[in-house]
Amino acid sequence: MSYRVIDPAGLDRRQIYRLLVGSIVPRPIAWVSSISQAGVHNLAPFSFFTCVCHYPPMISLSVGVRGGDYKHTTQNILETRGFVVHAVTNGLEEQMNVCSGDFPPGVSEFEMAGLTPVPSDFVPAPRVAEASLAMECRLHTLLTLGDPQHPTHLIIGEILRWHVREDVTAEEGKYIDPVKLQPVGRLAGNHYCRTQDVFFMQRPDRKPGQLTPS
Ligand SMILES: Cc1cc2nc3c(=O)[nH]c(=O)nc-3n(C[C@H](O)[C@H](O)[C@H](O)COP(=O)(O)O)c2cc1C
Repeated sequence: MSYRVIDPAGLDRRQIYRLLVGSIVPRPIAWVSSISQAGVHNLAPFSFFTCVCHYPPMISLSVGVRGGDYKHTTQNILETRGFVVHAVTNGLEEQMNVCSGDFPPGVSEFEMAGLTPVPSDFVPAPRVAEASLAMECRLHTLLTLGDPQHPTHLIIGEILRWHVREDVTAEEGKYIDPVKLQPVGRLAGNHYCRTQDVFFMQRPDRKPGQLTPS
């Protein structure tokens, strides 16, 4: 089998983006609610998303720019310091997709997607009532990365509280059941995947049922 050798040096921005989003798959989707200082709600999906620390629990998102300006999510997080990350699960894909639209700053994607904002406990941003899993986060760090003409903002948030719908929990709320949660993942371009083909594998150096970080 022959292999194609590809170096990012010399490739244009779009080609590199396509290689990257085709290589790191599937990606979970952070569906992020935020609020501006003026009180406008915002909701948008981001698949440059992962967990970065477990004690205390922290997650990261990478948010690009639009026309050289901050996306509303970044602007709002800088203004009000808090946000809520929701899981995108089966049945909510269409609403998530609506929220990726390029709406003016005064428009709430909650209204555009027909979703219900409910007040959070620790952060000013509301959470999505319809989502089965939400994590209230406080801004920890914002780093600007990449080409100054097209920067990316790496946003690290500390999770202050989880809201998990009872029916997706396991062992009296200690865990989240991956089969019941039914998260949707993003692949390259506009391709997505579901997580209905779940399998189990025991780590060789662990006892059955033993769960320790990593
Ligand atoms: C599934 C999905 C994943 C996305 N992931 C990202 C991402 O990781 N980073 C990013 O900057 N934009 C991403 N986008 C595009 C943003 O959702 C889009 O630019 C949105 O309008 C940003 O909203 P805002 O300006 O209200 O923050 C994604 C879109 C979709 C549909």
